[in-house]
Amino acid sequence: MKLQLTSLISLLAASASAHSWLECVDTEVSNYEAAKANPELEVQQTCKGFPRNKVSNGDWIQESKTYLWDLNNDSLNPDGLACRPSQTNDYPSGVPMTTARPGQALRLRHWGNGHSRYDMGSPLNKDPGVVRLYHGGRKEVEIRLKSELTEQNWVKGAQANFSANAIIQITGSKMNEKANYFDWTVPSNLENGRHMFVWAWGWGSAVTSNPPNFNPATDYNNALMNSWTTCFDILIEGSTATGSDSQTSTSSTGSSAPATSICSSKECLKGGMAANPCTGSDCPPCWYAAGDKYNCFDYKDGKCPFGGAYDCKKNLQTRGATRFQRTPFE
Ligand SMILES: *[C@@H]1O[C@H](CO)[C@@H](O)[C@H](O)[C@H]1NC(C)=O
Ligand SMILES: *[C@@H]1O[C@H](CO)[C@@H](O)[C@H](O)[C@H]1NC(C)=O
Repeated sequence: MKLQLTSLISLLAASASAHSWLECVDTEVSNYEAAKANPELEVQQTCKGFPRNKVSNGDWIQESKTYLWDLNNDSLNPDGLACRPSQTNDYPSGVPMTTARPGQALRLRHWGNGHSRYDMGSPLNKDPGVVRLYHGGRKEVEIRLKSELTEQNWVKGAQANFSANAIIQITGSKMNEKANYFDWTVPSNLENGRHMFVWAWGWGSAVTSNPPNFNPATDYNNALMNSWTTCFDILIEGSTATGSDSQTSTSSTGSSAPATSICSSKECLKGGMAANPCTGSDCPPCWYAAGDKYNCFDYKDGKCPFGGAYDCKKNLQTRGATRFQRTPFE
């Protein structure tokens, strides 16, 4: 049964469109080092804390249809929500919420689904991107909108390569991603109580870019747009903190300027025409990067006219152009 499921998953992953979701918040892997060294081994793991409302737990096919959340598909997510509406703060029996102390190490597990390597899987030659966490800053605060998934709400340091710590078995030119993990330490400044988090896979390319001195190990990656999310809570116990927030640094440096600063201060070319420059909020709302310049356009039927815009009015990165849409600046 195990083998069959694994091959079914690799088959589906190869053909299905790209997606991932968080499977477990607190994973105990009893043979991690051994399996990492010898990926032929079966990974021995149990889940001690789950994401929200994980009703189809363990049913990969059902979850890939009814549990994951495609952030940027406007027809599925017209209200721009950060969490799938069924991912409410509910934990049915058998799939409990995570309980943790500040400073505790957690091993989060998400699905690789064929996207763990640049040189294998599908699509080929695409960077696996990063997984990262967001938090509203205090207990009981809900992140509701995807526009709130910003550097300001990023849990500082909680960002890792999508395939960091993964156990991947390679056979010829095929990979079997047995488990993708994201190792993270619960911040020490979270007070006791329930804290809501959003796990996001930053996989699409964003209109913003990283500065030349960008350090992938410590800095928020502004070049990647979040594509998929899963929401979860942690019940913090044993903390002595009293309501400070999870973002240790609130002062923003030039290196981390979010897209909003582009919207308010940069120049763009109206309608993509060199003869029509404008600056910041005097410009139409839909901005597109074009090399080191920007082009900007008005809404068409209430939406940005091409995929991949940064919508300055809504402060939202929109989905990348599909191959059927016109990609205006390539
Ligand atoms: C958005 O979701 C709908 C419904 O599942 C699907 O038919 C459509 O292809 C998706 N659009 C994109 C751009 O992925
Ligand atoms: C993730 O790791 C792979 C393999 O080391 C690398 O090619 C890729 O550039 C990394 N991606 C990011 C966003 O750091």
